[in-house]
Amino acid sequence: MVPAPTPPAPAPVPHVPVLLRPLMKAAAPVTGVWLDGTFGAGGYTRALLDAGAEQVIALDRDPMVFEMARAWAGDYGERLVLRQGLFSQMDEHVAEDVGLDGVVLDLGVSSMQLDQSERGFSFMREGPLDMRMSGEGPDAADLVNRASEAELADILYFYGEERAARRIARAIVTARSDAPLETTLQLAAVVESCLPRARPGQARPATRSFQALRIAVNREYEELFQGLMAAERVLKPGGVLAVVTFHSLEDRMVKRFFALRAGQGGGGSRHAPEEQAEPAGFTLDPRKAIKPDAAELAENPRARSARLRIARRTDAPARPVDPRAIAMPPVLRPAERGGR
Ligand SMILES: C[S@@+](CC[C@H](N)C(=O)[O-])C[C@H]1O[C@@H](n2cnc3c(N)ncnc32)[C@H](O)[C@@H]1O
Repeated sequence: MVPAPTPPAPAPVPHVPVLLRPLMKAAAPVTGVWLDGTFGAGGYTRALLDAGAEQVIALDRDPMVFEMARAWAGDYGERLVLRQGLFSQMDEHVAEDVGLDGVVLDLGVSSMQLDQSERGFSFMREGPLDMRMSGEGPDAADLVNRASEAELADILYFYGEERAARRIARAIVTARSDAPLETTLQLAAVVESCLPRARPGQARPATRSFQALRIAVNREYEELFQGLMAAERVLKPGGVLAVVTFHSLEDRMVKRFFALRAGQGGGGSRHAPEEQAEPAGFTLDPRKAIKPDAAELAENPRARSARLRIARRTDAPARPVDPRAIAMPPVLRPAERGGR
């Protein structure tokens, strides 16, 4: 008897680009050289090339995304330049005498990263506690098993806005005293043992802790802080900076950076010293964040917390910004003390 064919493995769900329509509308007409600092599945890059960008320099810290792009990237020839790298270092990928027409940053993880259980990003799928987008450096298991209770509590509180941060940190330290926590589901069980169950329609309670650890492992706030300043350096006058965020701490940083560089810095405070009046580096266009509309939410529920902010570069010189003035959370990096 001929054996029944093995059913094919389910194809990974492709990443659906978020807020693409409003981004393309605000950026029109798209011309010249753009940099996509978060290439992912290439949704933004393709839309920019198809809309008329002469060239797109596409960066991603995750080497796997370029494997996935192999099937179509060649269609664009030299108009598409693929590079593995960090958007905080985007200057390195741009020729010194070329001012860019646009920079797009679509922050966070892609659906493909979340859905690959072996990457360890999801509390709903069993996998190793990894969470590194680039696959390099200390991973989430290093952090969870080595950081002190106080350090863990700070990460959960400052990066995940988790009110039960201390309780969860204590539970992690108790659990790891028996044996190291190695997997996503082990960690999720420890976190969820400290929190009330989610009501129908609410996010699972482990969401905030997993977000916090992912941000710490990938140093996402430092990347964003450096990335915003790098974008100001590489854009030419009139160039567009578009940033899509997925949670309130990131969005607050982008909002404050734009307000500060558009000359709306406010009066300063004990924590955020007043910036000197300087010529505005950006104009805001539009002034408020753009949210997904009902049609997009129906198509892609993962877009619900996305916010798009857009600004246009002026000809004022780029200058460094004080991280406190844009409400950057404190830098916490206990995993640097060594790997397992
Ligand atoms: C939300 S996805 C982008 C999806 C993309 N806009 C699309 O349409 O397919 C974010 C991507 O940015 C990458 N990434 C996150 N932080 C980065 C950084 N600091 N530098 C470079 N790439 C980064 C991630 O690896 C991921 O592939």
